[in-house]
Amino acid sequence: MKKIIAGNWKMHKTIPEAVQLAGAIAENTDVSARVVDIIICPAFIALNSVSEKIKETEISLGAQNMHYQENGAYTGECSGAMLKSAGCKYVILGHSERRHIFKEQDWEINTKVSAAFREGLKPVLCVGETESERDTGLTNNVIERQLKTALKDVDISNIESLLIAYEPVWAIGTGRTATPEQAHDAHEFIRQLLYAMYKDASQSVPILYGGSVKPDNAHDLLLQPNIDGALVGGASLKADSFIELVNIAATE
Ligand code: 13P
Repeated sequence: MKKIIAGNWKMHKTIPEAVQLAGAIAENTDVSARVVDIIICPAFIALNSVSEKIKETEISLGAQNMHYQENGAYTGECSGAMLKSAGCKYVILGHSERRHIFKEQDWEINTKVSAAFREGLKPVLCVGETESERDTGLTNNVIERQLKTALKDVDISNIESLLIAYEPVWAIGTGRTATPEQAHDAHEFIRQLLYAMYKDASQSVPILYGGSVKPDNAHDLLLQPNIDGALVGGASLKADSFIELVNIAATE
């Protein structure tokens, strides 16, 4: 499976800054992009401009969230069709910041995942435990609940368009990365859950790791079986570190 390096820019970068960063990444990853799938996920407002900037490149565009309805009176929201029209191929769903800060519920994430498939977008479904859940031995329970609820009634025919990101909440933006062993165990567990649900079709689902991924820890993480790439926050905001991550993935 081709490694994937995805940048989640969260609520950073104005439109000109986003276009500049996308341009810098594009200019310096043309060789690695042949062997690594590169995805960048700017804020909604910059999607269209970034899409224009990267349209002649191998880089793909993703959004950070979407609404599950096709349209309607949902002030402040974006539909899947809108994201597609802005050039998106992917959409991050169920990110822990959406779950914890914006109180997104498992059922809601499930409807968003279904809506993404309906609109022809590839969901990057995020799962992961908090520190207290890990400390009380609940890591696998949480992952299982989040994964099974989010994929409820998702037909096997959609599975080739699915990506999972394991992002332990305690490792996001904290500088504390899961050890390669901790990440490996969680990814193996996710792989087993997917297999139980979708049998051989599940083997094509990339499972990305996210949580303080940086150039100095990426190599050891990406070496692990079942770690198919990284979903990167902080280190995706600077061209140099993101390009370095892409280059590391290209050598794995
Ligand atoms: P950091 O890489 O900043 O820890 O963020 C990870 C993340 O949340 C990616 O979605």
